[in-house]
Amino acid sequence: MHCYAFKALVNSYKITKLQVTNFRNLNSEIITFNNGINCILGENGNGKTNILEAINVLSTKKSFRKNASFPQFLSIDGGKPEIIFSSVFENNLKEKISYTSKMTNESVLWFVDGTPVKKKLDIKIVFINPFDSYGFHNNASDRREWIDYFLCQLDANYKKSLAKYTIALRFRNTLLSKKPSRFKEQILASDADFSILSMYLTARRLEFLKEIEPFIADTFQKIFSEMHNLQINLDSRIINLSAINVQKIYLNNLEIDCERGHTSYGPHKDDYVLLFDGLNSYDFCSLGQQKMSYLSLLFAYIELFRYKYMSYPIVLIDDVSGELDQHRWRRLVEYLEKREFQVLITTANEKFKEELDRINGANKIHIKNGSVIY
Ligand SMILES: Nc1ncnc2c1ncn2[C@@H]1O[C@H](COP(=O)(O)OP(=O)(O)O)[C@@H](O)[C@H]1O
Ligand SMILES: [Mg+2]
Repeated sequence: MHCYAFKALVNSYKITKLQVTNFRNLNSEIITFNNGINCILGENGNGKTNILEAINVLSTKKSFRKNASFPQFLSIDGGKPEIIFSSVFENNLKEKISYTSKMTNESVLWFVDGTPVKKKLDIKIVFINPFDSYGFHNNASDRREWIDYFLCQLDANYKKSLAKYTIALRFRNTLLSKKPSRFKEQILASDADFSILSMYLTARRLEFLKEIEPFIADTFQKIFSEMHNLQINLDSRIINLSAINVQKIYLNNLEIDCERGHTSYGPHKDDYVLLFDGLNSYDFCSLGQQKMSYLSLLFAYIELFRYKYMSYPIVLIDDVSGELDQHRWRRLVEYLEKREFQVLITTANEKFKEELDRINGANKIHIKNGSVIY
């Protein structure tokens, strides 16, 4: 029990208040959230997604929007080039923690209860945007990014190893790009470690897919009450190989790699195949089914997270209404209502808002021109 209590303490936060200064179009006002479902409502372009983005940036330093960092975040009408995020979080012991982050182009500083801290709080976030379903089904790199993001959140060792691998890969590619290839000896020497890292990453990915698998099948059924078999597999040439055998692959590829000037194969080329009733979802599924599969995968991850840590991440859901029909919305909202995690969900869709209105005790936040109007 103690062990779980400790883990939960490390991993569980809910946001109660947020006030941002100089972040996008949001005015510097306090926004209050409850521990359950928070609906962020308002017409397009008023700042709903910006609220989710602010929480994401405060928690992870990064945006979920592509190519967005400090210069994009900074309000165009702002005076001082500094963004301040002031917030109150509640941990699983119901203690309130004031958490502030000051961001400039050069640095990010964090303060917990007014005291500067070296590391940011480890707040776990799952951001759900159904539009990302398209990229997930169409691009291998999106699938890799997706799995890596969640595996890093779940497993600090994986995160460290992935960072090491990324640096080693960049270095290997730099050596390979020099012509004529003068660094073969050096590459061969570092390939032993590179192979161990490669083997570990692939094995951990495989293990993750095994862990999440029972939750995926179950989640699809629970949310959409349709019986479909959803499965995700790893497509990698180095599954179950020993480090020595992985090293042999790198050795065999060395000539090609030298010609091409980069590492042609490794875990950075692993792929994932989502099977819907045994068929590749990319070829087989309608856009709506792809979206449902994508959402089920995300919620399966959230359930796996709970299974491992006895707590939940904060779940941010951006405009879920497109492409799903009203019947599916209703199921999804009913599913969310039964969960114990904190949800912030945005919509500009009046019909979807009607579904959200059925939720008992939801917190409604109406946004206009970057301000909470009621
Ligand atoms: N750096 C910025 N400074 C000021 N306004 C911004 C900035 N970046 C985006 N915006 C504005 O934010 C609005 C978009 O907010 P968003 O949260 O995406 O709207 P929605 O309510 O549709 O989710 C737009 O009106 C856009 O002009
Ligand atoms: Mg939006």
